[in-house]
Amino acid sequence: MGAIEGKYAVLEEGQIQELIVTAIKQLKYSYAPYSNFCVGAALLAQNGTVYTGCNIENAAYGPSNCAERTAFFKAVSEGNRKFRAICIVGGPKGRLDSYAPPCGVCRQVMMEFCDPEEFQIILAASREDYQSFTLKELLPQGFGPKNL
Ligand code: THU
Repeated sequence: MGAIEGKYAVLEEGQIQELIVTAIKQLKYSYAPYSNFCVGAALLAQNGTVYTGCNIENAAYGPSNCAERTAFFKAVSEGNRKFRAICIVGGPKGRLDSYAPPCGVCRQVMMEFCDPEEFQIILAASREDYQSFTLKELLPQGFGPKNL
């Protein structure tokens, strides 16, 4: 794996590694007493700020929030709406046996704020084992602000 190119600044290997390490650190904050599936996220804004997120479940199930949306809503609620990449890690009891791809609702939230051809979604199982996708790859023909 190496640097990831795009219309914006190239995502360097060092930045990718920082996002993976940061996402893994978030696993300890995951509140998942019902599914025991712990998820951590690290969202890189275009200005270099990294917003973190974990999943937060609820006894009523429905009000649960995914790690990715936690990170996005933290950023947007602090005035930041321009994003470059997100790293997501997760697994049963926080074991990173495989990738934890974003759910459809989180992909749609990404569609609201990100350029689908540029925004990178990094799925990681470790610092060495990761794969990067554009939002367009994970949400082809997505419906977003440009459709209205
Ligand atoms: N989860 C996330 O945090 N992100 C996703 O994109 C997929 C699912 C969480 C929600 C719930 O707390 C647990 O994983 C099991 O679905």
